[in-house]
Amino acid sequence: MHVLYLVSVWLHIVAAMTWIGGMLFLVTVLVPLLRRPATRARAMELFHLLAVRFRTVGWIALVTLVVTGTFNVLHRGFTLGQLLTGEAFAGTWGHALGGKLVLVALILASSAAHDFYVGPKATRLAEEDAPAEERERLRRVASWMGRVTLLLALGVVAVAVTLVRGAP
Ligand code: HEM
Repeated sequence: MHVLYLVSVWLHIVAAMTWIGGMLFLVTVLVPLLRRPATRARAMELFHLLAVRFRTVGWIALVTLVVTGTFNVLHRGFTLGQLLTGEAFAGTWGHALGGKLVLVALILASSAAHDFYVGPKATRLAEEDAPAEERERLRRVASWMGRVTLLLALGVVAVAVTLVRGAP
């Protein structure tokens, strides 16, 4: 059982690295590169292809995080019932876990809205040659939602660190 727990924590951390690392790579390397004169004309199309590919990777990582995270909580002595009724969120550790899960719920909601509604709509408007202001407005919304998701993800990692080692 202990080996299974270690594998679960390892998978949990690899999934977090893949998802958050991918987002950071997108923001710090790919977006600045696509904005260069050589690629600027095709930037929207390339970004759409990258976003669709990363969407699959991101959701596989998020599902892995929820499954392995739940397993980790169970291994720490809680039951699924205590998680669902909120009993698991009492005490210092429970508060940190509750805070983490609130952030995770926000991430799941904002990622779903970004990946399945705002992002595809922004791409569709670009393809349909919709008015420039409308396209720009949606592109900005999509871009801000991506940034907020990244900040929430970094917040989850900070809470996760205190979950394992205690609050400062
Ligand atoms: C966006 C989603 C998530 C991210 C980015 C994330 C990130 C992390 C990271 C980086 C750690 C390792 C912390 C450390 O060793 O210092 C961790 C640990 C942990 N996470 Fe998550 N997590 C996520 C979702 C979840 C969910 C949904 C749950 C519970 C249902 C969960 C429960 C746990 C538990 C219990 C640990 C401690 C594991 C242990 O060492 O026993 N996580 N998380």
